[in-house]
Amino acid sequence: MNFNERILKSEILAKNIHLLRIKSERIAMKASPGQFVNVRCGTGLDAYLRRPVSICRVDSEENTFDMVFMNRGKGTNLLCGLYCDDVIDVMGPLGNGFTLPGKNEHIAVVGGGIGIFPLLYLLEKSGNAKKSAFLGFRTKKAVVLKEAFQKACDELVISTDDGSYGIDGLITEPFLKWLEAERPDRVYTCGPLPMMRAVALSCMEQGIFCEVSMEQRMGCGIGACLVCACKVKDGDDFNYAHVCKDGPVFPAERLML
Ligand SMILES: Cc1cc2nc3c(=O)[nH]c(=O)nc-3n(C[C@H](O)[C@H](O)[C@H](O)COP(=O)(O)OP(=O)(O)OC[C@H]3O[C@@H](n4cnc5c(N)ncnc54)[C@H](O)[C@@H]3O)c2cc1C
Ligand code: FES
Repeated sequence: MNFNERILKSEILAKNIHLLRIKSERIAMKASPGQFVNVRCGTGLDAYLRRPVSICRVDSEENTFDMVFMNRGKGTNLLCGLYCDDVIDVMGPLGNGFTLPGKNEHIAVVGGGIGIFPLLYLLEKSGNAKKSAFLGFRTKKAVVLKEAFQKACDELVISTDDGSYGIDGLITEPFLKWLEAERPDRVYTCGPLPMMRAVALSCMEQGIFCEVSMEQRMGCGIGACLVCACKVKDGDDFNYAHVCKDGPVFPAERLML
C-alpha cells in the first residue's frame, strides 16, 4: 500500500517545534480528533520504526491535515529536514478518537507540551459546545498555536512552569480550581503523565466524564507488535491494551493511574 503524500507547508513554530501541512484526501476524509498518523521518518536503520504523531487539525475543503511535533530524537530530527513539495510516508488515520461532545455541552481540555496538539483538532470539531482550554508550557518561548486555540474555544488559560507567560506554575493548579467552581460535562487531557493523572483522578472523584490520550513508544501502530502495551484495569485484576489500536484515547477509569 502506498502512503506517500505531498507536503504543502513546513514551518518552525518555536525552537524545536515544527509544523507540517500535508495533502491527503484519505486522511482528511477519515480522521477524527485524537487519532494519529504513523510516519516513516527516513530510510536508514535509525528511523526504521515509524513514529506516531497526532493529527493536529484537518482542512476538509483543502484535503489537508497538520501535524506539529517536537524535535526529540533521531526520527523527528529527520522530519525537520522536510520542506514544501517533499513527499512523506504517513500511515493513518490510526487509533481511536475522543468521544465528541453533544450539542451545548460544556467541555474542558487540559494539555501540556506536545500533548496540546490533538486537543486543537478536538476543539475545532466540537461544534457549538462551550469550550474551555487549559494549556501548560515550560516557558514563554515554547508557547505555540495560541491564536488557533483562542479562536477554537470560549475560554483559554495558559500557564508556564517558569512564570514567563500566563499563570505561573503547572496548568493543573488553575484547572483544578476551575473544576471546583464549574461542572463541565466532559474533560479531555493529553500531555505529561503526572498532569493527566491529577486531572483524571479529580474528574473521577467528582463523577465527571474524562478521557485521557496516552503517549507510548510504538512500533507497527496497528496492533501487531505489542511494543505499545499498557496496563489497564480488568475488573479487580489488570490486563494489557494496545495504545495504538485500543487507544491512544482511554476512559480515565480504565487506566491504572
Ligand atoms: C499516539 C501518539 C501521538 C503523538 N503525537 C505527537 C505529536 O503530535 N507531537 C509530538 O511532538 N510528539 C507526539 N508523540 C510523541 C512522538 O511519537 C515521539 O516524540 C517520537 O516518536 C520521538 O521519536 P524520535 O525518533 O525523534 O526520538 P527518539 O530518538 O526515539 O527518542 C527521543 C526521546 O523521546 C522519548 N520518546 C520517544 N518516543 C516516545 C513516546 N512515544 N513516548 C514517550 N517518550 C518517547 C525517548 O525515550 C527519548 O528520551 C506522540 C506519541 C504517540 C504515542
Ligand atoms: S505499536 Fe505495534 S501493537 Fe501497538
